[in-house]
This record gives sequence, C-alpha cells and structure tokens, in this order.
Amino acid sequence: MRITIFGTGYVGLVTGTCLAEAGHEVMCMDVDSNKINGLMNGIVPIYEPGLEALVKQNVAEERLLFTADPAEAVGFGTLQFIAVGTPPDEDGSADLKYVLSVADTIAEHMQEYKLIIDKSTVPVGTADRVSEAIAQRLHQRDVDIPFDVCSNPEFLKEGSAVEDFSQGARIVIGCDSPRVEPLMRECYAPYNRRQEKLMFMDIRSAELTKYAANAMLATKISFMNEISNLAERLGADVENVRRGIGSDPRIGYSFIYPGCGYGGSCFPKDVQALARTATDVGYEAQLLNAVESVNYRQKASLFTKLSQALDGDLEGKTIAVWGLAFKPNTDDMREAPSRELMEAIWAAGGKVRAYDPEAMQECRRLYGERDDLALAKRRDDTLEGADALVICTEWKAFRTVDFRRLREQLTTPAIIDGRNLFNPESVRAAGLLYFAVGRADSL
Ligand code: UGA
Repeated sequence: MRITIFGTGYVGLVTGTCLAEAGHEVMCMDVDSNKINGLMNGIVPIYEPGLEALVKQNVAEERLLFTADPAEAVGFGTLQFIAVGTPPDEDGSADLKYVLSVADTIAEHMQEYKLIIDKSTVPVGTADRVSEAIAQRLHQRDVDIPFDVCSNPEFLKEGSAVEDFSQGARIVIGCDSPRVEPLMRECYAPYNRRQEKLMFMDIRSAELTKYAANAMLATKISFMNEISNLAERLGADVENVRRGIGSDPRIGYSFIYPGCGYGGSCFPKDVQALARTATDVGYEAQLLNAVESVNYRQKASLFTKLSQALDGDLEGKTIAVWGLAFKPNTDDMREAPSRELMEAIWAAGGKVRAYDPEAMQECRRLYGERDDLALAKRRDDTLEGADALVICTEWKAFRTVDFRRLREQLTTPAIIDGRNLFNPESVRAAGLLYFAVGRADSL
C-alpha cells in the first residue's frame, strides 16, 4: 500500500517508519528541507530507542522515502496521514494552523480519491474542519474528487514508541464512510494478526478517546501526588500505599508512581486543551482543572524542599541536578520538572551543575551558555563541592549510588529525590538528609 505522512516529528516519523517496516511504501513529507536531507541520509533528529536503525534499514530497502515537495507527497499515497504539531495557543487550546494547512495542501494537489487521516492529537470536531477545508479548496479548483477524512489517534509513549506501535493495546479509528474501513484494515493488517485491535467508531468519539486516555493517566498521577502530599503530613509512606492500592486489579499498578509531576509534550498540553474544549461548550471541567493545578504544585515542590534543606538561602550555592529530560529514555525537556526547578534556583541566586544521559544538548539549546549553568560530562562530576543534590528523572544510571562518598562530596548533605529512587534508611544511615516524595521526614 502507498502511504504519505505529513510531518516528520515524533509521531509522523515513528508512524511512517513502522508502516514501512511492516511492508508498505511510505513517503514522509516535511516543510523543513534540512530535516528531510538529514533523514534521507539516516540522520534522525530525535532520540528514540530503535528508531534510527529502522529508518536506515527501510531507507536502504527503498520502502521509506522522504520529500519536501508537497505535490510529490500528495501524489504518492492513497492514504494521507496528517501528523504535524498542534502547539498550545495562548489560551491552552490546540492551535490547528499546521493541520489545516496540510489539509489545504492535499486539496490543492490531489487528482484522485484520498483518505485523509488525522493522526495528530486534535480537538473534537477537527475532522469536520479538515473536511470543510478540503471541500472548500476543491470547490475553488472547480473539481469534484472524492475523499474521506478519518481520525486515528496515536497512543505512543516517548522512549518506547517503536515497541508501542507494534504492540499497542488498540488501534482506534473514527470514520463515517464505508470506504474507510477496508483501507484502514489493509494499512494496519500487519499489526492486527494475533488479536483484533482495530476499533471502529464515530469520528468524534475517536477524537475524544485520545484526550480521555491522556487525561485519565494524568489524573491517576495527580491523584497519587495528592496522596503523597497527605502521606508526608500524616507520617505515612506513599510507597506502601501505592503497593496497597495497586494490588487491587480495579486500580492497577501502572501510572500511580508519585513523583515531581508529569511533563512532556502530551499530558500538560492535552489536559489543558480538553479543559478548554469543555469551556468552549459551556461546561466547567472541575476535575481536569484540579489535575492540572495539583501537577503545577507538585513540580514546584522540588524547589520548596531544596529551599528548606538549605534554610531558604540559595544565594551563590551550587546545586547538583540529576536528570533533565521529563522522563527516562528521551532527550525531551518539554514541561520537564527540571526546568521549573532550575529556573527557581536561578531566580534565587543559585547555580546549577547538571547531568542527563541524553538531554544535555537539548538543555544547551534551551538555555544557551550561562554562568549559572554547568553541564557535567559524568553523573558524579556534578557533585564535588555542590551544596545539595536534586534528582528529577528516574534514569537507571541514577539508581546505584555510594551514599558515603556522596556524603563527603556535598556541602549540605541533602538529597531531594523527586522520583523515590532509594531506600530512605540506607540514605540516612550514611548521614545524609533525604527528602523524597510522600515518605517519612520528606517535608
Ligand atoms: C503519553 C501517553 O502515555 C501516551 O499513551 C500518549 O500517546 C502520549 O502521551 C501522547 O499523547 O502522545 P508520554 O508523554 O511519552 O506518553 O509519556 P508517559 O510515559 O506517559 O509519561 C508522562 C509523564 O508522566 C512523565 O513526566 C512521567 O514521569 C509521569 N509519570 C508517569 C508519573 O509521574 N508517574 C507515573 O506513574 C507514570
């Protein structure tokens, strides 16, 4: 099957590469010709385990093509995936200008039937707007070419996107025309062999499913963070509570890890966008607003604890920061708790010495060269003479620590652990102060 993907960001590139790997002929289009030139040579601009090797292999086998030419892209596939970004508008709603501009491009160049597939996370009602935009442009061209628009949201997690694509729990497809089902079945057949994963539904339900899934996961996290704040004040240990409630299959163990708040390009943006959509239809989504504000407070808690450990004086102090990415196995720092923390440290006159296995370049790109930010080559190079250590991301490489050595290196022997990586007794036995999340003496 011939497939075109618009947008070679995270979602577009993973989707295109995995569909090529499944045997389809795929052409990925992006307006950024530098990016396209790099991709043609196997240079993948994001860090995602397994992706680069797959891109190289499928480019070499000529199943994965790249272009910056819109006419070529539209001419190529019967299926036209829209996987461009939907950045948040000033009011929190998703900005659809890139999605609608792709719709316009498709309508401008199409000569025969096309199935246009919304893959980007878009507010409920977007498929209708895409349809209208295409119909309008075809009308202007004075041609009558059939087309369908369907919604096929993605549920990939950064860091395990390639695996999620092939082993995802479901493939949701919202459509309103009998032409769509056979085409989408053919597209996903390689991933639908062992069990029926395709779920066909109406378009608006598919669009809402995406937001509901992310909002539910974000709710679980904020709920657990709320319980962790209570546990700190009640002398309970949230790690015990987590095990206690997770054992109930109705609750489950996943996404109930307390921490320093959720980040990334999806949860914060999608929770806000859904709340905004609710307002637009005259409904106040009280729970979504609470999920968002609990998360905001949780991100700030790292600095609050650090400040307490240093008796409120950060002026001229150097803070070691482990973990800059919003979660492990990615170099993505969008909405990462580390950013809130570093910016608060700088505002209080402190300095940051940071390390992350993948996100150092991204950190430089975001903050540039500055006197109050040093990036260390190795994890332990952050420590000598630092006043305290804050852990923002649960990279595996942070789990094994010689606490006695650390005690000697830090001026104020304090670890602020935003991810509950250690056994509090072992840390404290080495003479360190330990401020974790929702555990005894963490306040
Ligand atoms: C999320 C969803 O998990 C995907 O299903 C969805 O496709 C994607 O958004 C999207 O909309 O594109 P992602 O943002 O890559 O994926 O990251 P997650 O692994 O879900 O983690 C999100 C945040 O929640 C991270 O900051 C993580 O540290 C935090 N988290 C996660 C917790 O604090 N506690 C947990 O128990 C789990």
